[in-house]
Amino acid sequence: MVQKSGVVITGSGSATPETVLENQVLSQLVETSDEWIRSRTGIGKRRLAAPSESLSAIATEAAKNAIAMAGITPAEIDLIVLATSTPDDLFGTACKIQAQLGATGAVAFDMTAACSGFVFGLVTAAQFIRTGVYQNVVLIGADILSRWVDWDDRRTCVLFGDGAGAVVMQAGERDRLLGFELKSDGTENHCLNLAYKAQPKQLIDGVEVGDGTYEHITMNGKEVYRFAVQKVPEVIDKALFRANLSIDQIDWLVLHQANQRILDAVAERLKIPPEKVISNLAHYGNTSAASIPLALDEAIRQGQIKPNDIIATSGFGAGLTWGSAIFQWGK
Ligand code: ACO
Repeated sequence: MVQKSGVVITGSGSATPETVLENQVLSQLVETSDEWIRSRTGIGKRRLAAPSESLSAIATEAAKNAIAMAGITPAEIDLIVLATSTPDDLFGTACKIQAQLGATGAVAFDMTAACSGFVFGLVTAAQFIRTGVYQNVVLIGADILSRWVDWDDRRTCVLFGDGAGAVVMQAGERDRLLGFELKSDGTENHCLNLAYKAQPKQLIDGVEVGDGTYEHITMNGKEVYRFAVQKVPEVIDKALFRANLSIDQIDWLVLHQANQRILDAVAERLKIPPEKVISNLAHYGNTSAASIPLALDEAIRQGQIKPNDIIATSGFGAGLTWGSAIFQWGK
């Protein structure tokens, strides 16, 4: 039997918490307005996880939906990759999802690349398929950033929302991951952080440890905006070059849903018409690692994205990290 080592993406799923927070409500918390948020970001509302909810619960639901669409059973899954910056447990949350799915044969681990997590995860998972090691992989992008936002900071609290999205990647005869490019620039790390702050705690004379916590998200919005608008078109161009494709062969642009102005500017630079740009951030805000698979899943289930369509995707964010993957949807 010939071993299949092409990458095909055969299922998608998503899940979001029930609580909806409209822009108007935010103006009761901080000095802002629906008009400011909509015109600067395109965001109208976002979903927020209740204290009783968990990342593993929404991630598991998204994964279940993707597995059902792919038509496989949990027992057939070889690998689960969870892209997240907000695990339920710093030791990792993927294994809990593995248990909740009943994917008894799968190895599961977390990986972190902030809002680039889904694209970095897609490329990571693809390597296991291309080398012939694994045949059925579930990749989940999920985040609950509402737990780390400073709800008194109007520059950030209006932007983020919670959610989860997932895809099933399988070994197939044709390789439908057509090209990719990943980038990092740690010299700009200070632009976007959710950093640990150590409080000195003396154990005994001369021995101190850091006994602290992670602090709220901080962001230089203008710098991140400039970075995204410059680097995202470049990285998509590079991934297209690797795929030996031209811009006009792209059916859909599915970018990390950070800001409608970023989506518009990237599409304009690449000369991609607005009708090819998938956008759902009006409903969910920036859901970090979840935003691309959430937008992808909605567009697939609404019948916009069809089998064989070529999708250019790009994630960008903290690290700084950015990347693009070009793939064809379906078996
Ligand atoms: N409501 C009202 N006014 C506000 C708000 C708000 N929510 N937020 C900021 N302002 C004010 C500012 O205080 C400032 O007032 P000032 O001129 O009196 O100082 C004014 O509006 C303009 O602020 P800017 O920061 O210049 O606003 P800008 O037009 O750049 O928009 C935004 C800010 C939306 C954050 C934009 O810079 C942006 O989208 N940047 C990219 C952010 C991003 O995508 N981050 C996610 C990366 S993904 C990840 O890895 C998590």
